Amino acid sequence: MKRILVSGGAGFLGSHLCDKLLAEGHEVLCVDNFFTGSRRNIYHLLDNKRFELLRHDVTHPLYVEVDEIYNLACPASPIHYQFDPVQTTKTSVIGAMNMLGLAKRLKIKVLQASTSEIYGDPEIHPQPESYRGNVNTLGPRACYDEGKRCAETLFFDYHRQHGVAIKVMRIFNTYGPRMHPNDGRVVSNFIVQALKGQDITIYGDGKQTRSFCYVDDNIEGMYKLMNSRAGFTGPVNIGNPGEFTMLELAQLVIELTNSKSKLVFMPLPQDDPLQRKPVIDLAKKELDWEPKIPLREGLIKTISYFDQILKEG
Ligand SMILES: NC(=O)c1ccc[n+]([C@@H]2O[C@H](COP(=O)([O-])OP(=O)(O)OC[C@H]3O[C@@H](n4cnc5c(N)ncnc54)[C@H](O)[C@@H]3O)[C@@H](O)[C@H]2O)c1
Repeated sequence: MKRILVSGGAGFLGSHLCDKLLAEGHEVLCVDNFFTGSRRNIYHLLDNKRFELLRHDVTHPLYVEVDEIYNLACPASPIHYQFDPVQTTKTSVIGAMNMLGLAKRLKIKVLQASTSEIYGDPEIHPQPESYRGNVNTLGPRACYDEGKRCAETLFFDYHRQHGVAIKVMRIFNTYGPRMHPNDGRVVSNFIVQALKGQDITIYGDGKQTRSFCYVDDNIEGMYKLMNSRAGFTGPVNIGNPGEFTMLELAQLVIELTNSKSKLVFMPLPQDDPLQRKPVIDLAKKELDWEPKIPLREGLIKTISYFDQILKEG
């Protein structure tokens, strides 16, 4: 049994990771400042003797004794990360330094939740880990994209300079229960609009594609990466290569919710990438991982979650 720190543990992915680590028999120290995370996500864990919650902002140093760190703290949706862009960059960069500093002092492994945003608006498709990206340093997404890029740099410099054991995971669009209902991400947007019978907003002509990974697949990949062979650092893409247009996604959501919602078209936001799809050969080879849950099945579970929270009000 290990004592494992999960920063951002009250968030969407973090709370599912806490569930997984507890199920594997570990102790979990969940660290979160509740900027986008919620007590609801971890409410069911509060009575678990192996679970501990600490309200803390990772931009400040943290002195605790743990055996492993998963660094997930960072708002992940554009609405949230653009709300206070300076704080977003601080969370990514200073938060990473603080977690790396802790890992260095304790001589333990640390995993970074990086992102496909590293690739920006990609000029090659699909994206392998070797692609260096096409990011606008000045745009409204840069606080997140560049913050995460700098965090990756810090991870590799701590590894080379101080010998810290690192694992870097580039997460592609992930969806599932416990996503925020109002975070502007396409899956939650469409589902909430469909369940409320509101118009479904499509940005652009709806022909831009995304790949969607169900949360359980993501968490399995994250856990396998942390426990991968010594010396394997990544970065490794974790995502679902199945590609869907926004129109296809909207139609599937309408079908599964039995909704009468209509589609309405709005202009594309600035710097919104047109395509994103992971090459997952490295994850298959090194982690023996690939996503298993088809979009339809994952959407049914996600719709049932949103249906419940909308009823709760
Ligand atoms: N969900 C995705 O599709 C996706 C894709 C790529 C990368 N990621 C990365 O995965 C991680 C988790 O994403 P998520 O979707 O669960 O987002 P989320 O917003 O639900 O979770 C982030 C958590 O971090 C916490 N947090 C934010 N700033 C903090 C700070 N300064 N100190 C302490 N806690 C802080 C929030 O309160 C929240 O609980 C993020 O690092 C994100 O960049 C997610």
